[in-house]
Amino acid sequence: MPIRNRLAEMADEIAGWRHTLHETPELMFDLPETTAFVVERLKSFGIEDITTGIGQSGVVATIKGKTDTKGRVIGLRADMDALPMDEASGVPFASQIPGKMHACGHDGHTAMLLGAAKYLAETRNFDGTVVLIFQPAEEGGGGGLEMVKDGLMDRWGVQEVYGMHNMPGVPVGQFAIRSGSLMASVDSFDIVVTGKGGHGAMPHEAIDTNLVAAQIVVSLQSIAARNVDPLKSVVVTITTMMSDTDSYNIIPHTVTLKGTVRTLDNSVRDLVEERVRAIAEATATSFGATAEVLYDRGYPVTVNHEDQTGYAIEAARAVVGDAAVEDNTPPMMPAEDFSYMLEARPGAYMFIGNGDTPMCHHPAYTFSDEIIPLGCSWFAEMVERRMPAA
Ligand code: NI
Repeated sequence: MPIRNRLAEMADEIAGWRHTLHETPELMFDLPETTAFVVERLKSFGIEDITTGIGQSGVVATIKGKTDTKGRVIGLRADMDALPMDEASGVPFASQIPGKMHACGHDGHTAMLLGAAKYLAETRNFDGTVVLIFQPAEEGGGGGLEMVKDGLMDRWGVQEVYGMHNMPGVPVGQFAIRSGSLMASVDSFDIVVTGKGGHGAMPHEAIDTNLVAAQIVVSLQSIAARNVDPLKSVVVTITTMMSDTDSYNIIPHTVTLKGTVRTLDNSVRDLVEERVRAIAEATATSFGATAEVLYDRGYPVTVNHEDQTGYAIEAARAVVGDAAVEDNTPPMMPAEDFSYMLEARPGAYMFIGNGDTPMCHHPAYTFSDEIIPLGCSWFAEMVERRMPAA
């Protein structure tokens, strides 16, 4: 069964919703117009069970199937937030708000989940309950975690959860996924190195903090080279070295290093944090300085569950055919906060091909409206396959 006729009929209407969302991008948790639009559409489909304010500004709604003989509950998630950047896509419905742009296609994800909701509310050809999850603050705010902390999974009894993201570079009409680690964890750290400031011409009376910081920078690269299994992936990057002086003749008292860590494996993630702390502290001590490490854990690794990945692949194959589903796509180093939902429940995260457009977060990025019926059909297939009509 390819794209459902009803969804093909609705494609222009759904694209229209996306264009409305695209013109009025909102950021992080501050989504008053976006969530009002989502709620208004859901009500127009005859959906009554709608809860707002989950995870600050998330929206959760349910659709009951024609029957509910087994108590099955499937969650479908879309993200709603835009990015703090100016748009240069040239589309006629471009952002009307300077400094804000839907440059990651979350307008498309929200529209596709609304389209699936309209179809599912009309047909209800399943046995169980669909939980529609419209999430705030994917772009750095951890809205997914906030919704989970707010009881998303327990309050609605979600048993499995599925999400989808468009992917530039993957042709329109294709899907891509893999079981296991799909996207990276992202952690950040500050290392504040304190030595003993002094005269640049009298280093023996100082503890040269720049030298200590430089040694730490070099030694941190030994984590990837010597500590992590060569067959596993890791990035340790120092992005900032900041001294408390700007001169030719002063040895600074403190130097701050900032950096980012990406991994595809939670055990590697733990190892890197341990090694960053140990290297920074011990290197500083060896020079008579000190290092204070502030390590901030961001989004965890996005890990697709094996069985649910299989179901997601079957649903995608039903929509676009066997050959158009890449079932072992390489993992990517960006992070995704659907990871928190996958830590809470079994599920899978699917990439839907978005064709030849600049990568997400580029000012000329565009979401292809052609993929809307495909994405809606995949959501509908997930529901009807995981909760077949009794
Ligand atoms: Ni995104």
